[in-house]
Amino acid sequence: MFNFFHKKPAPEPLFPYTTEVHCHILPGIDDGSPDVEHSLPLLRQLRQWGIEKVIATPHVTEATFENTPQTVGDAYERLCREPEFGEIGIQLCYSAEYRMDDNFLGIFQRNEIMPMPGNHVLIENSFLQPFWNIKELVFELQLKGFSPILAHPERYAYYYDDKKIYQELHNQGCEFQVNLLSLAGYYNRRSREVAEWLASQHMIDYLGSDLHNSNHLLHLSNYLTGKDFAKHMREIHPQNDSL
Ligand SMILES: [Fe+2]
Repeated sequence: MFNFFHKKPAPEPLFPYTTEVHCHILPGIDDGSPDVEHSLPLLRQLRQWGIEKVIATPHVTEATFENTPQTVGDAYERLCREPEFGEIGIQLCYSAEYRMDDNFLGIFQRNEIMPMPGNHVLIENSFLQPFWNIKELVFELQLKGFSPILAHPERYAYYYDDKKIYQELHNQGCEFQVNLLSLAGYYNRRSREVAEWLASQHMIDYLGSDLHNSNHLLHLSNYLTGKDFAKHMREIHPQNDSL
């Protein structure tokens, strides 16, 4: 006789890589996880989806989140000290998501950038306007031995009407990290369309969750188990595991 009460749960979907390169899971230092109690379930879910290594990228943004190596390092230590963290079995390191602004120019000048592995630096524009001199800044970073990665290029609406900036930046050696949540259609239709366009142009170098909270987990879960995810992954070949 069938036992309906012991139905096997559906297997967890898996990310097509084991390194998460963009997320806000460090406790209490930006608009992501507010405390350790919220960070742990986010990490646990990433682990269940196949992530083995997480590069935490808290915001460093002028006036709102002026994080420093001290504030980021302290949040990292708080999380790592938690006994439950060790039980999850995930490797954690940190860098930042640097808003291109005067604060970042100061950090760069003072040689205080916290790079990702391989001297990569995750940079972002404001959503209201592009950084006025992004090509020059990318060049200056490269000159100092950094490899810039532009976070979620598909979310900058002011780039949509003249897409040649994407090609120019990418040709310049600035890599692109697209959000899974954009491909999932979570933000809006246009960012999804532009993410798919970037995929068609082979300009997606990394994928990231940009995970801030459990609501994001829910939307990621729906996306990972849907048919769009499988379709997108036939076209996108993220290099996350090179970091
Ligand atoms: Fe982010």
